[in-house]
Amino acid sequence: MKKENNINHYIDLHAHLDGCITVGIAKKLAALQKITLPSAADEELLSILSVPDTCEDLNDFLKCFDLPLSLLQTEESLEEAVYLVLSEMERDGVIYAELRFAPQLHTQKGMPQETAIQAALRGLKKSPIPGNLILCCMRGESNQKENMETLELARKYLIEDGGVVAIDLAGAEAIFPTENYEEFFAKAREYKVPFTIHAGEAGDAEDVKTAIQMGAARLGHGVRIAGNEEVIRLVKDSGVFLEMCPTSNRQTKAVTDMSGYPLKDFLERGLKVTINTDDPAIERTTLSGEFRYMQTLLGLTEDQKQQILFNSIDAAFTTDKRKKELHQQLLF
Ligand code: ADE
Ligand code: ZN
Repeated sequence: MKKENNINHYIDLHAHLDGCITVGIAKKLAALQKITLPSAADEELLSILSVPDTCEDLNDFLKCFDLPLSLLQTEESLEEAVYLVLSEMERDGVIYAELRFAPQLHTQKGMPQETAIQAALRGLKKSPIPGNLILCCMRGESNQKENMETLELARKYLIEDGGVVAIDLAGAEAIFPTENYEEFFAKAREYKVPFTIHAGEAGDAEDVKTAIQMGAARLGHGVRIAGNEEVIRLVKDSGVFLEMCPTSNRQTKAVTDMSGYPLKDFLERGLKVTINTDDPAIERTTLSGEFRYMQTLLGLTEDQKQQILFNSIDAAFTTDKRKKELHQQLLF
């Protein structure tokens, strides 16, 4: 049965923990750890924690993570942050979320990656909504060891629902292309660890092609396949899901002209698109805000929004049982 009233339940499959630290959460984490924030004024904190209008590209965007990351270097703060972020999502109408973070970015004060994962799992246990964790590996040139450790830990903690369900590859795509990670993802396949890869965000359609050939079940963004008919066909035929993040794409200049944002076109051509936030605190958005944005910008209909949410359920790294429950929640 089709739902008659407007959509007010959402599913976020692509949200980075360190990109979800709002002013309110930052103040709580600072108080918990007796850390003095760079400003006591909310307006000033907001401008430090969120992306400036002058943001030129993804590399510029990634500089905004210094302060939130500095607040996420202890077990207590990670546990609390996961809980607070998922609680904030619930208030926005999110009924299921996959929160991702890179354990290797939480070792500044000596916390081992495994301890960071265990802390995040404790936060997840307290969540008011069902959710899962995706462990990010990071693009770079001197962190192969750290990425391997993350993969080994993903294998160790992998579960079908209620914990670590997959890995990701995040970071500067234009500097460290996806093809550099072929061996790494061959190992992930051998370990049967499912994965999504940021691809076609700061890189191009070739990165998307590579990520699909490497076995990614989902792609972070994928927006730069627009205009490349060969790769669009590949995305369609492979059935890979696109985790699209509109405000993020505008701010990082993944897309230069938002009036031509390809989400609706992709959807109408049968690509499995989903709508997500990426880094809502840094972007000053929420998931309900992203759906409204796409409705206003592209005239997305209620039926299309529902289709997108059904895609999110299909794409989720979780059990069929959880998927059935989410379907019911969306329909009634
Ligand atoms: N880390 C946080 N946000 C990211 C993005 N949009 N792309 C790559 N890495 C990220
Ligand atoms: Zn991302």
